[in-house]
Amino acid sequence: MDTRYSFETLSSANDLAAKVSELGEAITRDYKDKDTVFVGILKGSFIFMADLVRKVQLDRLEICFMMVSSYGSGTRSSGNIIIKKDLENDLEGKHVLIVEDIIDSGNTLTYLKKYLSNRKAASVKVCTILDKPSRRETELVPDYRGFEIPDAFVVGYGLDYDEHFRELPDLCILHMNKEEA
Ligand code: IMP
Ligand code: MG
Repeated sequence: MDTRYSFETLSSANDLAAKVSELGEAITRDYKDKDTVFVGILKGSFIFMADLVRKVQLDRLEICFMMVSSYGSGTRSSGNIIIKKDLENDLEGKHVLIVEDIIDSGNTLTYLKKYLSNRKAASVKVCTILDKPSRRETELVPDYRGFEIPDAFVVGYGLDYDEHFRELPDLCILHMNKEEA
């Protein structure tokens, strides 16, 4: 057990599953009969994407991923968005839903919405499992949102701290323990 950290559960795996089902139903209603592309933002969205796609029922759904980075190894967004893996899919005339783990400053998604709209998508909307609106630096409002959370650094359900803890089934606040003397 790593004594440098402790974990406080914010949303249990059961709460997350129930919320993903709700989001799936809403998205199924709104995207029925549309050519739809879910664009997951790696790496944080990989678990949410895997759960969400099994809770929607859409006949013409494409699933793809981009990898972008705005964080170094710390806990604050740099505001500098770097595309590390781009999409190969043709988006022209298709309805794009960006699937994200968390919106914090909003810098990443503000940039990506513009970037994907420029590829002639018919619409570009945002679905996030977590939202920290108190930290927003842009106007961005998600179209679908799981949980609003306080200004704390969270891990689990795909989210990391310095590439660790993505595998935790619950979403937890990460506490840094004071170094023992
Ligand atoms: P934004 O550009 O500031 O909105 O940052 C969004 C990205 O920062 C998310 O996709 C996450 O990868 C990361 N991030 C923001 N807050 C947290 C957190 O509390 N835990 C883990 N990653 C976070
Ligand atoms: Mg992310």
